[in-house]
Amino acid sequence: MLFGNAQIECFGPDDVVRLRRAGRAAAATLAHVAARLIPGASTADIDRWVREDTARRGGLPSQLGYHGFPAAVCTSVNDVVCHGIPSPRVRLREGDIINVDVTTQLDGFHGDTSATFAIGAISADAQHVIETARRCRDAGIAVVRARARLGDVGAAVDELARALGCSVVREFGGHGIGRTMHAEPHIAFTGTRGRGLRLRAGMALTIEPMINLSSPEVVFDGDGWTVRTADGSLSAQFEHTVLVTSDGCEVLTGGM
Ligand code: MF3
Ligand code: CO
Ligand code: CO
Repeated sequence: MLFGNAQIECFGPDDVVRLRRAGRAAAATLAHVAARLIPGASTADIDRWVREDTARRGGLPSQLGYHGFPAAVCTSVNDVVCHGIPSPRVRLREGDIINVDVTTQLDGFHGDTSATFAIGAISADAQHVIETARRCRDAGIAVVRARARLGDVGAAVDELARALGCSVVREFGGHGIGRTMHAEPHIAFTGTRGRGLRLRAGMALTIEPMINLSSPEVVFDGDGWTVRTADGSLSAQFEHTVLVTSDGCEVLTGGM
């Protein structure tokens, strides 16, 4: 059903079954990658693992060819904030952190999830930005429920990031998801409580704040995709796809 001027779909039971399957497939592929991340692996290896595992599950990598994106997965290392392009020239080294963002299309529906991983022993700063990003994602999820407003979600995430001495990237946010990878609404991870779109049961959304260790400013690489922190400091991100329910939400990409 589409509601009023918001034009945001609320999914019924049959579609929710498909959303769950797509979310589970994306989460399983992310876990498949996680188990293989070691020093010496290249981000092109990750791309291959994602293609193989997604196909094994009967899915398609949603990101491949999306607005011309040249790979099946985004691999964002250290100061790369998001949309890193896998490459045989980028090899993981002890001490790196890497966000792997997997989106799977299965039976006409999409599931989208990411996590940031440590390669071997990492610095205290790296641990801090990873932990902050995970907690910020979970703080946003904790606010999602029917009748909550998007400003409530953004404020909760931004306040926690600041309290932990980090910052929220402004240029990118979450999104509605379902029959397309990216749908309305746009979800900012800053905002004012009591403002913004009111959520309804049956909406599917992603909660995926990008957290920088210091300044929130970002710069774009010449490849047209890769986004980096302007000051070269570390960035981390975690993402779940969630379904809004009357008293909270169901995490569709969890359980791995
Ligand atoms: N999965 C990303 C997200 O969380 C989308 C990246 S679009 C791509 O929204 F084209 F860069 F793959
Ligand atoms: Co997303
Ligand atoms: Co994603």
